[in-house]
Amino acid sequence: MKQPHDKLLAPAEILQQVEQLRQSIDEHNYHYYVLDEPQIPDVEYDRLMRQLQQLETDYPSLITTESPTQKVGGIAATGFNKIEHQVPMLSLDNVFSSEELKDFGQRVQQRLSIDSELADKTSGDSSSAASKAAAKSDLTPLQFTCEPKLDGLAISLIYKNGKLVTGATRGDGKIGEDVTQNVRTIRNLPLQLRGEDCPELLEVRGEIFIPKAEFEKLNAVAISNQQKTFANPRNVAAGSLRQLDPKVTAQRKLQLYCYALGQISDNYQLPATHFQRLEKLRLWGLPVSAEIKTTTGIDGCLEYFESISEQRDKLPYEIDGVVYKIDNIELQQRLGFVAKAPRWAIAHKFPAQEEITKLLDVEFQVGRTGSITPVARLKPVFVGGVTVSNATLHNQDEIERLQVKVGDTVIVRRAGDVIPQIVSVVINDRTENCQDILFPLRCPVCGSDIERLAGEAKSRCTGGLFCAAQRVESIKHFASRKAINIDGLGDKLVEQLVQADMIDDVADLYHLKLDNLLKLERMAEKSANNLLSAIENSKQTSFAKFLYSLGIREVGEATASALANCYDSLNDLMNAKTENLQSIADVGPIVAGHIVHFFSQPHNKEVIQKLLDANIQWPTPSRVDTSQLPLTGQTWVLTGTLERLSRSEGKALLQSLGAKVSGSVSAKTTCVVAGPGAGSKLTKAQSLDIRILDEDQFITLLKEYNLLSEKGSG
Ligand code: IVH
Repeated sequence: MKQPHDKLLAPAEILQQVEQLRQSIDEHNYHYYVLDEPQIPDVEYDRLMRQLQQLETDYPSLITTESPTQKVGGIAATGFNKIEHQVPMLSLDNVFSSEELKDFGQRVQQRLSIDSELADKTSGDSSSAASKAAAKSDLTPLQFTCEPKLDGLAISLIYKNGKLVTGATRGDGKIGEDVTQNVRTIRNLPLQLRGEDCPELLEVRGEIFIPKAEFEKLNAVAISNQQKTFANPRNVAAGSLRQLDPKVTAQRKLQLYCYALGQISDNYQLPATHFQRLEKLRLWGLPVSAEIKTTTGIDGCLEYFESISEQRDKLPYEIDGVVYKIDNIELQQRLGFVAKAPRWAIAHKFPAQEEITKLLDVEFQVGRTGSITPVARLKPVFVGGVTVSNATLHNQDEIERLQVKVGDTVIVRRAGDVIPQIVSVVINDRTENCQDILFPLRCPVCGSDIERLAGEAKSRCTGGLFCAAQRVESIKHFASRKAINIDGLGDKLVEQLVQADMIDDVADLYHLKLDNLLKLERMAEKSANNLLSAIENSKQTSFAKFLYSLGIREVGEATASALANCYDSLNDLMNAKTENLQSIADVGPIVAGHIVHFFSQPHNKEVIQKLLDANIQWPTPSRVDTSQLPLTGQTWVLTGTLERLSRSEGKALLQSLGAKVSGSVSAKTTCVVAGPGAGSKLTKAQSLDIRILDEDQFITLLKEYNLLSEKGSG
């Protein structure tokens, strides 16, 4: 371990560095706590703070009482009355790895055993035998309470004779803001405690947060009203709680979970462990997270961390790590506090989901239907557990909303499997060299005009299949597994084939010859033959798959099945009028318009004829009266991983029962089948009170309809 430069005078450059760090941290505190508009991601803030802490450890003479390292956190804001916390509201120290956590465990054990040796020598020691035993032996693993680290805003609630009298934010840890009127609007926050035995004075502490589903709804509304969106759920919680008008707070559907006690009547006898105290809070009607568990030793803590990490995406609220607290209160008291955090607790943080990096360039990608997507090229940055070098900028409106320029320093977010996004720009770091992002007027690939239809967020290349990018994307789609399914024809190979002028459209695939394929880079005879037989096999398909593979705008798998089910032949469908098409459930005027437009294009008719000439065929579908099926009229959603059925099998089986299978959950959803790893769809279903089945229940239901044999399903 590095020794402090005790009594060493700090060199001038260190002094300057320390001052700069303090200034910058103070500035960020102001933006975070007062303006509710953080300018940098939390990781960056933590890094600045750690840097300062390290310098102060190396040069203790530089520590001042005003240093941000000596303060708990924010600054009390104006606009609300001040409330002094009788027991300071502290923060938590963080660890980011199992090694750091083990060090924490050792520090605690060491401190407790030294402490207990000292106590043994002192006659007046009043520690209980249990806490002595727990503290004394290195072999006795400590008990911890493990809790999710909720990503919201800390709150102190004071109850007198069971009635809520004040709600206060943490502020600077000593003085917070009186937000009583606002917290009173939080639905799961009791205004009156339950039970006979609650103390005269009780201060509980917890976190106010917004559930993920509510957060998504709020941002969806903001986008549709062309208003500013919120960067993350914590900002919403902070912003909502500090509204001067409680009606606005009430609309935000905030929630509370309690995790600590503050003041309590002197004579009140509380249980001896933190976990039991939380149970007591529950009995008084205060909400406590159901994920809170007790565990033994650091190994137990690590198991909890693993298990919560796996559940993270499924939890209905955002968490940024877990918190371990020594369960025995007497041991907590012995360990005490350092400047701003207890020694008996530690936060184990997940890898940051937000990071800071530079926007190097913006490229415009052309999709299968000509949609133009601006893609940010970023200086590679490690975020959310992977290295990210691209992020989507969605569309022109998003660029305007972010007011981002090439060269800007930006905050990038990657949460779960969601495509990385740019959350905001660090405006203070903007230089004169930053360049405006100009949305192209012509397609970057084929030069055709770009148009944006009224009411659409996307701009599109008007080149159709004249555009090489659209051709490549449409061939990739045609060959994909759920479409015509040409095994071995991956994205790269399609690009190569188009570039080498071997194919122009999907029908050309059926005229590829071995000699030609062998001219491609890294194409051996065996793979070429395999590819040719996969192309041959793909000729036997189904009407629905054929329709889906054509890539008609907004005709996904479900619509393709519905069309295949309603029309006896391709010819009938190609001649259908919009009015006829609209009689099919799932097909509205827009989709019907896309279908009619697609089949009216000479080029598309030509490609279809070439495909039929190549002998692509499907069995004539047997007609089913879909209005009489058991799940007719219902909308189902499949989410997460299904282990005994594939998602497409599940979908096909549901469709055969008459259900519509949708990709998103809404108030119209009848039921959601959620497998492991289900995320925001499950959360949304829970918040809308929609029926949820796990895979076993789903399979049982399918069996009831004789759709799966006992053997076949697992
Ligand atoms: S205990 C004396 N428990 O994290 C210990 N804090 O980084 C005080 N937080 O200010 C905090 N979940 O806003 C505790 N289960 C949990 C928590 C939690 C979230 C927040 C809280 C605190 C911050 C510290």
